[in-house]
Amino acid sequence: MLPLRIVRCVASTWSPSPPSCSASSPLSPASLLRAAGASRSRFRAMASYSSGSGKPQRLLFRQLFEKESSTYTYLLADLGHPEKPAVLVDPVDKTIDRDLTLIKELGLKLIYAMNTHVHADHVTGTGIIKGKVPGVKSVISKTSSAKADHFVEHGDKICFGDLFLEVRATPGHTLGCVTYVTGDGPDQPNPRMAFTGDALLIRGCGRTDFQGGSSHQLYHSVHSQIFTLPKDTLLYPAHDYKGFSVTTVGEEMLYNPRLTKDEETFKSIMENLNLPYPKMIDVAVPANMACGLQDLPSKV
Ligand SMILES: [Fe+2]
Repeated sequence: MLPLRIVRCVASTWSPSPPSCSASSPLSPASLLRAAGASRSRFRAMASYSSGSGKPQRLLFRQLFEKESSTYTYLLADLGHPEKPAVLVDPVDKTIDRDLTLIKELGLKLIYAMNTHVHADHVTGTGIIKGKVPGVKSVISKTSSAKADHFVEHGDKICFGDLFLEVRATPGHTLGCVTYVTGDGPDQPNPRMAFTGDALLIRGCGRTDFQGGSSHQLYHSVHSQIFTLPKDTLLYPAHDYKGFSVTTVGEEMLYNPRLTKDEETFKSIMENLNLPYPKMIDVAVPANMACGLQDLPSKV
């Protein structure tokens, strides 16, 4: 059983010297969602084969797709740890069986099912996962006001093995949106990877006209929390509707048609999108506020 410990955030900003996620470290006043640690080894890519340096790759990364809502789900695991602890970011109810089968086939131990925000276009799979895999904990931001096992805030760290995700508050699409960013350190993925939810889409961004959205907030979230990451940071959004799968900070700073503009122009763009009422919002938001368990009230 992986030791799981949670410590609240003390500092409101990210520490440049994050504490180790290793199991041997004492509880730190920094915020951690902590799983068991592992041996240290640097990695550069996503597979489990050996690198040219002879050191094993430690991150397993998979990008999964749900076609009805064009949603990406991300699977990350620490292959350097004997239990291969894993997290799922933005799982969708309709593709849970696929995701859990993959996790089983890869021999991973899923510990967290996380959401970047309360989605309006699909029902999250976190509740179903909790019902099917005992021990998995759901994670969402505290400001989302949704139901979950763990609530994260800006500056928190979510550990799986010796790898971790940093939580950055990126409100604007919804009030509770966060971006999960892989750690900054010698044993963490290089380049870094950021899971932006709907705050930043490839050459776009999420709408700001529902769920406490604010174009002013979104503009500042992206510029202060995403565009300040290294330019080679890989950005993975919650959706794509054109067939793209990944972008980088540098790319979006040059080519994002909305977020390269000044704030007033951005706000004007967002106010004049004339998008239809989200067709799933009346079903998805109430369900997602309850961890996706709309049909399982006894388990909420
Ligand atoms: Fe969304």
